[in-house]
Amino acid sequence: MNRPHRNHPAWWAFAVHRLSGLALALFLPLHFWALGQAIGGEAALDGFLRWTENPLAKFAETGLVVLLAAHLAGGLRVLAIEFLPWSPRQKAAVAVSAGFALAAGLLFLFNVGVA
Ligand code: HEM
Repeated sequence: MNRPHRNHPAWWAFAVHRLSGLALALFLPLHFWALGQAIGGEAALDGFLRWTENPLAKFAETGLVVLLAAHLAGGLRVLAIEFLPWSPRQKAAVAVSAGFALAAGLLFLFNVGVA
């Protein structure tokens, strides 16, 4: 299959933006469910929060932080295209967005105490 347009950082930025947007939207009901544990009382929420201390949950949380940071930075890049004068430095903007997302994930890991 010949898809040369996929050989461009801006296409990958689009793909990451769409996938991260969908993943965040899928996570949202889960997040509300987790907060809803508080309805069952303080102990129910505390029990759930203790469970989230396990390494696998922290790993998934790191992925979520990277996705949110990628979506935030990528979204700001799209909004800049929309509202600011055109800049030909789109590859640099994609690289800055990716760097920001990875740095956010790394900062999160430092805070968790894993990295
Ligand atoms: C953190 C701040 C956010 C910013 C700055 C942002 C920005 C944007 C922008 C500009 C678009 C349109 C992209 C385009 O037209 O190419 C978009 C799409 C989208 N966003 Fe966000 N967003 C943010 C947070 C979120 C959150 C928290 C969610 C989910 C809970 C989300 C879900 C989506 C989805 C599903 C799309 C559609 C993706 C697509 O059709 O390719 N966004 N976002």
